Amino acid sequence: MVWLRLLHFLVILAPSVSSKYSISVSRSSPFSLLIKDGQDVFVENTAILVGTTNSTVKPVVASSSGRIPNNGGQITARMISPTVAKIEVNSSYPFVGAQFSVGPEDFIYGVWEYPFFESISNTNVSFDLKGLGNAEGLNWDNARAPFFLTSAGYGVYADALEMGSYDFTKEGKAQFIFNTSSLTYYVILPKSKDDFKSILEGYTGLSSRIEMPPTSGFGPTFWSDDFEQDFHAGVTNAQENYYDVVNHLYYNQIHASAMFADRPYGSGNMSFGNFDFDPKYYPTPKQFIANLSSYGFDFQVWVANRAFLYTELFNMSEANGWLFPGINPVNFLGPALNLSIPAAYHYFKERLSYFTSVGVKGYKIDRGEEGEMPVYEQNVQMTLFEQLVYENMASAWGPSAFYNFARSAVDRSRSRTAIWNGDSHSNFSGLAYSVASGIRAGLISFPVWGSDTGGYIRGTNDPTEELWARWMHYSAFSPVYELMLGTNHTPWYPPYTSDLVTILKQTANLHHDLLPFIKSHTYESTQTGVPLIRALFLEVPADKNAFTIADQYFFGSEFLVAPIVNGGGCRSVYFPKGFTYLEYFNKSSVNEGGTTSSVCLGLDAIPVYVRQGAIVPRGDVHEGNNKWTKDWKPSLTIEAFPSFAVPESRFSYFNGEGDNGTEVDIIMATDKQTGSVKLTYGDLGAKGKLVVYADAGKIEKAIVEGGGEAVFEGVKCLF
Ligand SMILES: *[C@@H]1O[C@H](CO)[C@@H](O)[C@H](O)[C@H]1NC(C)=O
Ligand SMILES: *[C@@H]1O[C@H](CO)[C@@H](O)[C@H](O)[C@H]1NC(C)=O
Ligand SMILES: *[C@@H]1O[C@H](CO)[C@@H](O)[C@H](O)[C@H]1NC(C)=O
Ligand SMILES: *[C@@H]1O[C@H](CO)[C@@H](O)[C@H](O)[C@H]1NC(C)=O
Ligand SMILES: *[C@@H]1O[C@H](CO)[C@@H](O)[C@H](O)[C@H]1NC(C)=O
Ligand SMILES: *[C@@H]1O[C@H](CO)[C@@H](O)[C@H](O)[C@H]1NC(C)=O
Ligand SMILES: *[C@@H]1O[C@H](CO)[C@@H](O)[C@H](O)[C@H]1NC(C)=O
Ligand SMILES: *[C@@H]1O[C@H](CO)[C@@H](O)[C@H](O)[C@H]1NC(C)=O
Ligand SMILES: *[C@@H]1O[C@H](CO)[C@@H](O)[C@H](O)[C@H]1NC(C)=O
Ligand SMILES: *[C@@H]1O[C@H](CO)[C@@H](O)[C@H](O)[C@H]1NC(C)=O
Ligand SMILES: *[C@@H]1O[C@H](CO)[C@@H](O)[C@H](O)[C@H]1NC(C)=O
Repeated sequence: MVWLRLLHFLVILAPSVSSKYSISVSRSSPFSLLIKDGQDVFVENTAILVGTTNSTVKPVVASSSGRIPNNGGQITARMISPTVAKIEVNSSYPFVGAQFSVGPEDFIYGVWEYPFFESISNTNVSFDLKGLGNAEGLNWDNARAPFFLTSAGYGVYADALEMGSYDFTKEGKAQFIFNTSSLTYYVILPKSKDDFKSILEGYTGLSSRIEMPPTSGFGPTFWSDDFEQDFHAGVTNAQENYYDVVNHLYYNQIHASAMFADRPYGSGNMSFGNFDFDPKYYPTPKQFIANLSSYGFDFQVWVANRAFLYTELFNMSEANGWLFPGINPVNFLGPALNLSIPAAYHYFKERLSYFTSVGVKGYKIDRGEEGEMPVYEQNVQMTLFEQLVYENMASAWGPSAFYNFARSAVDRSRSRTAIWNGDSHSNFSGLAYSVASGIRAGLISFPVWGSDTGGYIRGTNDPTEELWARWMHYSAFSPVYELMLGTNHTPWYPPYTSDLVTILKQTANLHHDLLPFIKSHTYESTQTGVPLIRALFLEVPADKNAFTIADQYFFGSEFLVAPIVNGGGCRSVYFPKGFTYLEYFNKSSVNEGGTTSSVCLGLDAIPVYVRQGAIVPRGDVHEGNNKWTKDWKPSLTIEAFPSFAVPESRFSYFNGEGDNGTEVDIIMATDKQTGSVKLTYGDLGAKGKLVVYADAGKIEKAIVEGGGEAVFEGVKCLF
């Protein structure tokens, strides 16, 4: 830090790296910064705000050296890489913020997972960087990041865990204010114009990127809100209730890889805080979990930073003064522990080791934004809690060998937990909001993500069979497929029909078969921060329509997915410009970019399209609960969709488990003149076949062990 002091009087440090971008002070009243791309103004940081409260902050009038009057502090700004500008505000005021100019046509994305107004952008939104409560479509949909991205082509990341407020309601302005006297923020510029993926890469390089989950984390995962009730034939306790699910999955040959226990499962008040399983319902937990494991299921349990009255967690925390003060414990919510106190942190972590000792391989991390702590502590405390439970799991199983997922997480936890989108409503608005929130989770780079298939907030007759079927198809094309059954809503029990079981099987097995594709793109996210569920504009920034559509997304770059999020079975599908798209399942239509099509489908189908030149690795690469196949071995099918308009395309296939593995290139080269399609690939690590989709149907060749090359002659392309 010494060098910073030496350069104290030079607000704009000379760029340490050569860049086409430059940063300079534009005016001292109010103090503002300009980032230019060559000679053109690209970003206008119109003001830096300071104040004694967040509602009285004012633009700083600093000298051009960045000194804030009356010993108010110092502002420094410089390019720290060719595409990143770093601005540090060190002030004597308790609140610091910044303002950026927004063009009339521009949209702003990011900050929150929750889709305010069912939108993927933040037009008209003003809210804190905290969890939301009950809201339209979704309750507690709470992944968040102090990062926004504009359609003008840059991002802004405020590196803070303190509470902040973002305001996008003022015309021509985007603003944030944080409860801190020292704030560092970064402006992240694209590697080339409109390269939005490079902005996500720059941002996650500064904050954090995900760790690779185990394959079991992607599901299909089955769970009940309460395994201690809704017992069917032969079931007398919770353990047997899981086996009832295991058996139905087995007899229907439905692939699955995990199950979890939501609350209740423990003894004590509100069933959490004694670090145990309730013996009445779980008489032999260790053997039970060992059995689940031998049936091919990883097992996770519910946790929260919440001390329910008179539990061990409560008594111990109360005696040591670890609970946040002023929160009445005689209230079903229970106060949280202040995990900034090292002894509290260590105690909680140690006691959780009971769960790893009996074989639990992950946590559903609930709550953290329900009034159990002061609001301004939410980001700090969730980050600590997610770190704590991560450390507990990693010390037992090693990294990438367990699956934690949370609803309330800020970006500092990105490498510590996956996300589910909270309590979705079990109706079509819940599904539509879930689709939009999945896209938004991607835009703040939380790529390992899923929603409660069928919705969580269920009335007596919810989900309807129609809603559930549509949601199952959506979950097949989500990174994580997890489904809540039980409590009188189980696909193979009345009132549901065998048709729904057929659709569950079709979609769960499709998701399972897409795991090679999903894992490969997830591995890409670990390296770049680019999500699997992609807002259309990440792929087609040249298409204006791609900036507003909230019910379609690219899955990787290969698939265009348009889930049916309304009753009746029809919707219109927009095909973004720049590509041609083939209907994926029946190869029934080829759609030009820039067109719209009206699509009606029965409950057995979802509108999904594959892009020209796509390579899609699929296959059976995780045994999971598959005990119906004798001598199971992994197998792959590499699907190729050649187009002579795409001379070469490439897919980086991840061939490993957890973080053990490497990327193997699969390359497709086409030659219009000879009509040939050539596939070249490295060691894919499994047997299987290469399938080229052409006018005459499929053409297949076997995968060669250790890598190889296959040439298909006389191909008439479908595109
Ligand atoms: C100030 O902070 C409060 C509490 O975090 C928040 O509700 C409010 O919107 C903030 N006001 C501004 C102007 O940011
Ligand atoms: C900001 O202030 C902190 C102490 O409050 C100091 O450690 C740090 O070096 C300062 N940073 C700059 C850029 O002046
Ligand atoms: C934002 O608010 C303005 C003014 O109330 C309204 O005209 C506009 O339709 C709103 N836009 C969105 C996307 O909600
Ligand atoms: C700002 O944070 C401090 C703790 O650092 C807290 O005491 C104060 O209440 C917070 N202010 C607001 C408006 O949340
Ligand atoms: C575990 O599975 C075996 C064989 O299926 C069964 O006999 C045993 O009762 C199960 N144990 C528990 C604790 O469920
Ligand atoms: C916690 O303390 C209460 C009151 O002293 C006691 O009744 C209860 O048994 C204690 N809980 C546990 C788990 O020891
Ligand atoms: C459980 O907590 C509630 C309040 O949250 C309290 O009224 C009740 O006495 C507690 N029960 C036990 C058994 O400690
Ligand atoms: C939480 O604990 C930390 C560390 O002891 C302390 O600085 C902070 O004030 C505590 N927060 C609250 C709200 O009590
Ligand atoms: C969906 O469910 C939520 C929660 O039960 C309810 O508030 C909302 O009105 C429902 N929406 C529709 C369109 O039925
Ligand atoms: C594919 O064809 C089958 C059989 O005709 C039909 O049931 C299904 O809806 C079609 N799927 C799509 C996506 O068109
Ligand atoms: C990765 O490989 C190492 C060494 O073989 C092993 O210890 C570790 O458990 C593996 N990790 C995963 C997630 O499989």
